[in-house]
Amino acid sequence: MSMKKAIGIIDSGVGGLTVAKEVMRQLPREKIIYFGDNARCPYGSRDSQEIRLFTNQLIQFVSRFELKALVIACNTAASVVLHEAKERLDLPVLGVIEPGARAAISATRTGRIGIIGTEMTIRTKAYVEALRAINPDLYAVSLACPEFVPLVENRLLHTEDAWQTVRDTLAPLKNEKLDTLILGCTHYPLLAPLIRKAMGDDIFLINSAEETARELSTLMAIQELHRSSGESGDHDHLFFTSGDPAIFKEIGEEWLQVPIHVEQRNLEEQLFL
Ligand code: DGL
Repeated sequence: MSMKKAIGIIDSGVGGLTVAKEVMRQLPREKIIYFGDNARCPYGSRDSQEIRLFTNQLIQFVSRFELKALVIACNTAASVVLHEAKERLDLPVLGVIEPGARAAISATRTGRIGIIGTEMTIRTKAYVEALRAINPDLYAVSLACPEFVPLVENRLLHTEDAWQTVRDTLAPLKNEKLDTLILGCTHYPLLAPLIRKAMGDDIFLINSAEETARELSTLMAIQELHRSSGESGDHDHLFFTSGDPAIFKEIGEEWLQVPIHVEQRNLEEQLFL
């Protein structure tokens, strides 16, 4: 049906590969056009005007391709731009926040939910609003974890420093008696073993990337957007980065476990929409 069209996935860097990996697993026939704005990552500590500008440039770039759906895989970008992008674009647009919130609500037994994310994601209260829109009686507590993204970006995941940072940062949540914690940032699933170690075995960790791919799959089925036949080998996907393509390729291939084609593009030349 939609043989030529691709799924656009945008992120501030490599973190959205957690969404791309799930889309590749759950929708293996689909072609992905991915843009990671590594040159300007992180977005999480920038102001909303800059995040809006950068995200609109990403949208403008991937919109050059024929898209059947767009995923704003970056929690920070989605928390600032999702609503206006949905209104403006003439295709289904998904963010990671509502799927993550819905998954947390189905997981929780006690109604006590924690949210961790970048400074901007937490400041916008996007997750709290998404949770309360479904159930106003939930107890929701948020915590910005600005030190987590650099641990992933600088490949420090397996160091003692990473463990100490995760443990110390999450300490304020330990007494909150949470049964569910939303990993409200693309990079946090990569820190999940440390987060689990810090928060204990009994807590549900919600990976917004998985949930988003699941909702994308459902939405595509409802709107009959799936590829009905034909092949989209992994080599069909296109990955763009504003940063160093060799580094992106290395991280991408390690994470996705398939060879990927990566091209470098400069987004500064894009017009402000
Ligand atoms: N992709 C961002 C997010 O999910 C994390 C990295 C950044 O701050 O740009 O919030």
